[in-house]
Amino acid sequence: MYTNILTAKNNGITTITINRPSKLNALNKETIQELHTAFKTANEDVATKVIIITGSGEKAFVAGADISEFADFSVEEGGKLAAQGQALLFDFVANLSTPVIAAVNGFALGGGLELAMAAHFRIASDNARMGLPEVSLGVIPGYGGTQRLPQLIGKGRAMELVMTAEMIDAATALQYGLTNHVVAQEELIPLAEKIASKIMKNSSVAIGAAIRAVNACFEDGVNGFEAEINEFGNCFGTEDFKEGTTAFLEKRKAVFPGK
Ligand code: COA
Repeated sequence: MYTNILTAKNNGITTITINRPSKLNALNKETIQELHTAFKTANEDVATKVIIITGSGEKAFVAGADISEFADFSVEEGGKLAAQGQALLFDFVANLSTPVIAAVNGFALGGGLELAMAAHFRIASDNARMGLPEVSLGVIPGYGGTQRLPQLIGKGRAMELVMTAEMIDAATALQYGLTNHVVAQEELIPLAEKIASKIMKNSSVAIGAAIRAVNACFEDGVNGFEAEINEFGNCFGTEDFKEGTTAFLEKRKAVFPGK
């Protein structure tokens, strides 16, 4: 069904694997389109409670946007490339109501780090290398990198990383808060699945509301506190809320209908 990605569904988790290892999983146009379809499908699937995004092979999560595709672009084409990519993939992923965990298993550079940053949070293997090398190519990050990196690690560190175009290792990424955990490569997917299984015990409807409320903190012109009040209030009208509170009062584990 897909040329450049693999998808697998297991126990409420859809794992999407970018599968162009010979190009270090670089994001060409077709891969971005396929990722859009796969994320959309998983988000609409009621049986999928968590999405894990990772890269195939042992070397790379994603080594960036496919440089061979845009090397001869005009100003207009460049702008369109960024706008389309953000709409189809990066903003799209950030705003999904299903939690997305990026399992960074090697190089996450340029568009690769931007994809990992669009995910709701990140975990990494100890061989991970992260960076935004765009200025070394005469361009800047165009898939949200100049916005999400300072949000995640602070302005000063983001400025240094962007200006030097250098990579940081997994330990530094952990110290910066760019990744939540660092483990050996063979433990990466098991850790993602372990965290996913904890998330899945909770109300998927409430989690979707929480994602929207947290994202509101970073949206221009949106009052996050008001967004939170609104989302909080709406929870009271859900079957999950009835089940969650009833189960607590009846001293049993909640079985959320996800509605
Ligand atoms: N776009 C297109 N192709 C890419 C790519 C990218 N972003 N990153 C890697 N590749 C390709 C290489 O061209 C090479 O293809 P080839 O075998 O057909 O020549 C293949 O992937 C393997 O990469 P290679 O450079 O040989 O691996 P390496 O281990 O020597 O170096 C990196 C790894 C990540 C340091 C290096 O590939 C690199 O700097 N990539 C570009 C990173 C970047 O600038 N990304 C931001 C883009 S905006």
